[in-house]
Amino acid sequence: MSTQVAPNPTIATREDPMVPRVFKVQSVRRETADTSTLALQPVPPARHVSGRAARVGPGPSDGAASCAFSPGQFNMVYVFGVGEIPISISGSPRQPQHFIHTTRVVGAVTKALCGLKRGAAVGVRGPFGSAWPLREAEGHDVVIVAGGIGLAPLRPAVLELMAHRDRYGRIALLYGTRSPEDMLFRKELERWRGRFDLEVHVTVDRATAEWRGHVGVVTALFHRATFDPSNTMAMMCGPEVMMRFSARELIKRGATVDRIFASMERNMKCAIGTCGHCQFGPMFICKNGPVLPYSALHSWIEWREI
Ligand SMILES: Cc1cc2nc3c(=O)[nH]c(=O)nc-3n(C[C@H](O)[C@H](O)[C@H](O)COP(=O)(O)OP(=O)(O)OC[C@H]3O[C@@H](n4cnc5c(N)ncnc54)[C@H](O)[C@@H]3O)c2cc1C
Ligand code: FES
Repeated sequence: MSTQVAPNPTIATREDPMVPRVFKVQSVRRETADTSTLALQPVPPARHVSGRAARVGPGPSDGAASCAFSPGQFNMVYVFGVGEIPISISGSPRQPQHFIHTTRVVGAVTKALCGLKRGAAVGVRGPFGSAWPLREAEGHDVVIVAGGIGLAPLRPAVLELMAHRDRYGRIALLYGTRSPEDMLFRKELERWRGRFDLEVHVTVDRATAEWRGHVGVVTALFHRATFDPSNTMAMMCGPEVMMRFSARELIKRGATVDRIFASMERNMKCAIGTCGHCQFGPMFICKNGPVLPYSALHSWIEWREI
């Protein structure tokens, strides 16, 4: 498998990737105390007819055209009057009528986004970025490693793996959160845990009195999962330190660097590879990533200050 990082083709095909499309908040679901999932529905643009604005149906560059995406991609979501941020798409690619975004509050824009009510308008640019290697993973065991909000960009990949379950070997999901209350997609995780063809292992940093599960770092879950490291495709998203130690653990067990993929986060402005804000070594995360093979990352990710 090639370790070369190709630019994302979706960028070149958009009409004007800097112009946001208008979406409205279709639903809001509170996941945890600081995390919410929003469904965003495209709004057909207003066109001026005889001097008056009129709503018209979808056109080729309208928000209403499609919310198609590949698992792993992200949108730039603009809360009007506050700012624009990159947020991964956490829904199913099989439901292209809306975008689903799961956001954790850390600052001004994420707070404003999570505070929006049903019917509110937002701007959306995207989808941007590279995708999880689901095709390349066919015939392999798959290990998904998620830390905290990192489960959001991995959720579409899990849904796709489940939709084509017969194409893959064993599948294990290793998920670490700060505490049991911080667990995302709780009901869905329970459903996944009930399946005989998907192993789900969850750990928390801090247990509560009711917690009967594992306590500790995600890497301590590897020995619980059943997979053949030499024939495994790994997909990771979470804090960089978690991904660094998880990759080391996988490599120690015999996994190869070009079959380990990580989704990287950097501050973004343009998301189309022109401003340089998201630079990571020789790569721009918006253009070459966010999903990258560890073979392209490891010399940079092991260098902590970059
Ligand atoms: C490709 C990509 C996908 C993302 N997907 C999600 C997602 O699905 N859900 C989600 O909740 N968040 C996601 N993020 C992170 C999200 O973009 C940041 O939390 C957001 O930009 C913070 O904006 P703010 O104005 O609320 O906070 P700010 O006040 O701008 O920042 C608060 C803190 O977060 C740090 N920060 C801000 N932006 C980033 C960033 N992009 N990467 C790392 N640290 C940052 C700041 O340095 C600061 O410490 C993603 C980021 C990227 C690059
Ligand atoms: S965000 Fe501008 S180059 Fe990546």
